Amino acid sequence: MASSIAVCRLRMRGSLSRCFKKVDSCFQRKFGTSTDATKTDAPNKKYKIEPKDGSKSFYTVQEEKIEQAERSVLISCPAKTNEKKFLQYLSRHGDINKCFFYESYGTYAVVEFANKESLKSLHEGTAIPSINHEATVPFKSRLLSLRNTGPLDLSNGQSAPQCQPQTTIPINDLIQRMSKEDSIDKQISSLTETYQLTEENVCLRFLVCSLLKDIAAAYFPECTIRPFGSSVNGFGKLGCDLDMFLDLDSISGRNLKKPKAGLSLEYQTKRSASERAATQSILSVIGECVDQFGPGCVGVQKILQARCPLVRFAHQPSGFQCDLTANNRVAMKSSELLYLYGGLDQRVRYLVFSVRCWARAHSITSSIPGAWITNFSLTVMVLFFLQRRTIPILPTLDHLKELAGPIDKSVIEGNDCTFVSDFTKIQLQDNTETLEQLLQEFFEFYGTFAFNRMSINIRKGREQNKPEVSPLHIQNPFEPALNVSKNVNGTQLERFVALCRESAWMLQQREFNLPHSGNGASTGNNAPWGLAALLMPSVSQAAGVKSRKKRKREPASERIKGLLDSLKNREEKKS
Ligand code: GTP
Ligand code: MG
Repeated sequence: MASSIAVCRLRMRGSLSRCFKKVDSCFQRKFGTSTDATKTDAPNKKYKIEPKDGSKSFYTVQEEKIEQAERSVLISCPAKTNEKKFLQYLSRHGDINKCFFYESYGTYAVVEFANKESLKSLHEGTAIPSINHEATVPFKSRLLSLRNTGPLDLSNGQSAPQCQPQTTIPINDLIQRMSKEDSIDKQISSLTETYQLTEENVCLRFLVCSLLKDIAAAYFPECTIRPFGSSVNGFGKLGCDLDMFLDLDSISGRNLKKPKAGLSLEYQTKRSASERAATQSILSVIGECVDQFGPGCVGVQKILQARCPLVRFAHQPSGFQCDLTANNRVAMKSSELLYLYGGLDQRVRYLVFSVRCWARAHSITSSIPGAWITNFSLTVMVLFFLQRRTIPILPTLDHLKELAGPIDKSVIEGNDCTFVSDFTKIQLQDNTETLEQLLQEFFEFYGTFAFNRMSINIRKGREQNKPEVSPLHIQNPFEPALNVSKNVNGTQLERFVALCRESAWMLQQREFNLPHSGNGASTGNNAPWGLAALLMPSVSQAAGVKSRKKRKREPASERIKGLLDSLKNREEKKS
């Protein structure tokens, strides 16, 4: 069948800014492009408030992306695949909306068909491999391999297809890139644009959930697997884990209205001692399936005794570290709330990306579980800070609840999780602070916060007396009795506070908060300054000295002195 091909041809890093714009327009209120923001946000110039326009609600985006993913396949291709021939070959099954390539243990293509029927045709023409000396589980998934056994030359003498990056650049490259900017505001947008998820990466995340759903559907045909956390809340960094939620609500009838009187039928079900026990047994079975039959899923671990039981595994074709949970609707709600806050004002995402990156660079956060502050807690701290501005940038959660309509009503395990989902109902105040001011003030705010007495509460938008002795108390927005940072010990909190103070001080110094004369690509001199200097792990690197041995971390005052000296020396050499 001859079909027209509307291919989204993706190009390398040169066209990344285009992709970022697409992400912004797809997942956030359309503020104008990040590049536009960069142009208008000169240092010390008041922040220009962009007019509101209709941003899609969290669930609208979820439903659209889930539907798109259901029309998509993931194909492992030979490295030198000719894109045109590849698409011509696939288009015999129907029109293709979009296709992009990326690398992860080989070359892969994500192909989105215009219609779901195309997948039927594709499945009919796809064979189960016959492998000598081994047996295969005949599972017809949407993870496929392109083989070429005939005379057709798929490469056609061409080099490899252009691949979309799925990981970030190393921190030192980011520091270099940011140091070339001429304002801290531009550094912040450069950091965010470099780190944020691309539209393609988000599509791939939804596709992996959809592939997993095909496995879980063996038991629960009407289930949905939804991504949550930083994959969808607007704060995800390329390379972040993929948190997934096995949503059985459409089966459980949780959302169905029960008839008041008269006859009705109900399913007989197996009873479990508790909701937790039911979740554990569901995840145990699905985890087993993923382990035994899930193509590309490796290192499956069932972590069923955790507070939130989960199945953890690596999805090799996408390179994602995956956590599959069930019955975790509060986390879904938290993701929706963060998405809403991030979409209200573009400064929210910029500040969260900067603070997360700064915290990671100094090991305040870690990918390993422990007594550290988590990215989620850190994000809530940024939101709280933005609620606490003299002219608040963000409304309180209680206010968002007041604005909610009947459609927004949500009670989960007895907790009221209601808040407005429609962006247009939210009136923002006229705060015009620049990103540079906000970053500086963030460090001052938490460098002097009364952590010993006070709790952070974004529902009320003000600090409250601490109800327990944990060093850091951040009230869980939807489960008020819980502290989201209960794991954080005194030492980690002290490190955070000390680093906030040090960073606040550094940003006040002229040597740090102004670009050095002669900086820029033409001179090749890009001494770290501003936010870039705050990301420097040690003085030796700030001074451009590559030390083979890991240096012992020096006290803050020494670090700052060394950094200042190195910058002064550079300036003197130049003059
Ligand atoms: P990354 O570090 O980029 O993965 O950020 P993340 O936001 O995805 O964090 P993580 O993977 O640790 O958790 C996924 C989601 O679970 C978060 O976005 C929250 O919605 C939720 N979550 C994580 N920790 C907590 C917690 O302590 N309390 C509550 N209520 N939700 C949490
Ligand atoms: Mg996560």
